[in-house]
Amino acid sequence: MTTSATQRQAAASVKSRPPRIADRLPAEGENGVFTESWFPLCKSSEIAPGEMRGFGFLDGRVVVMRDRQGEVHVLSAYCPHVGADLSVGKVVGDQIQCAFHEWRFNTDGYVAATAIGDPAPKACLFKYPSADKYGVIWAFNGETPWWEIPDFDKPADALAIRVEYDVPIYPIDPWVICANTPDWQHIKIVHKIAFDHKQYRDCLVWNNYSMQGRLDGYYTDNKGGALETKAGIFGTSIFMMQGNIGGRWIGVMTPFGIPKPGHTSTYFILATEKGDGSPADQQIVDQTLAGLYHLAKVQVGEDKPILRTIKYAPGYLTASDAMLAKYLKLVREFPRSHAGGEYIR
Ligand code: FES
Ligand SMILES: [Fe+2]
Repeated sequence: MTTSATQRQAAASVKSRPPRIADRLPAEGENGVFTESWFPLCKSSEIAPGEMRGFGFLDGRVVVMRDRQGEVHVLSAYCPHVGADLSVGKVVGDQIQCAFHEWRFNTDGYVAATAIGDPAPKACLFKYPSADKYGVIWAFNGETPWWEIPDFDKPADALAIRVEYDVPIYPIDPWVICANTPDWQHIKIVHKIAFDHKQYRDCLVWNNYSMQGRLDGYYTDNKGGALETKAGIFGTSIFMMQGNIGGRWIGVMTPFGIPKPGHTSTYFILATEKGDGSPADQQIVDQTLAGLYHLAKVQVGEDKPILRTIKYAPGYLTASDAMLAKYLKLVREFPRSHAGGEYIR
């Protein structure tokens, strides 16, 4: 072939090559804002009354403090005096004391007193709306939560709960993992769950922050038995599934945190019904929760190679991606803000 013929052929193939479509969604932190969702910070058991600890949150840092009554407070970590990290200070009574010059802060975040005796300036920490629920301490990114962390169908006092933390963190935003649930093709292909996706699609209940519907099926690889559940996503950071797996009621809630921009930390809240308190029954409860943890880890493991390398960008979505496209639209339009931004950095 002559050079000019080769060039002509190359030019022709360039002309007919379909373009790469990458209709990417706004990343968490892009333009200085994050989605207004509930994010996990730590396990409830990590903070005893009268203690506090610091955690990376969004693009900054917060302290989680538990007062003597057991109530949890999530506050920006940097002291408004000259910026010391309060997590290296201590809790005194129900106040946080900075390590550097011993200013004290009330749990509303305002300065209570200086150690040296100067009048306390009208300065404060940013206080995040927080929750201590199902064994996890959560913070809402915003001034006021406009939706609530979902409930399991069973009353909280009827539940036996085990909370686990999955390491390592993923180099993606939490909504990328959440987008797995409406991506029913991957549920069949990656997780080997056989189910009627049209039935799931048709019974899904959507609102402006969540989607949830019945998911009945079975694991084709026998890792978990039959599923009679409902499954859904709340906000940009919570997966929840509950119902019967293998004939016993279970609940799984998986909150995804943002310990730093572009990263996701994963918690597993595993629940089943408490037994009658007898040792034999307790053994069944423990086995159920252990089995559930194993199943959760296996399923996360199935996603891992994909989620640790993906550059998520909706491209050529096809008809079967309608449910996924709808969730991605919800994420795209999700309210974003950063009320605590100036305080936590
Ligand atoms: S930096 Fe906190 S009291 Fe000075
Ligand atoms: Fe998945």
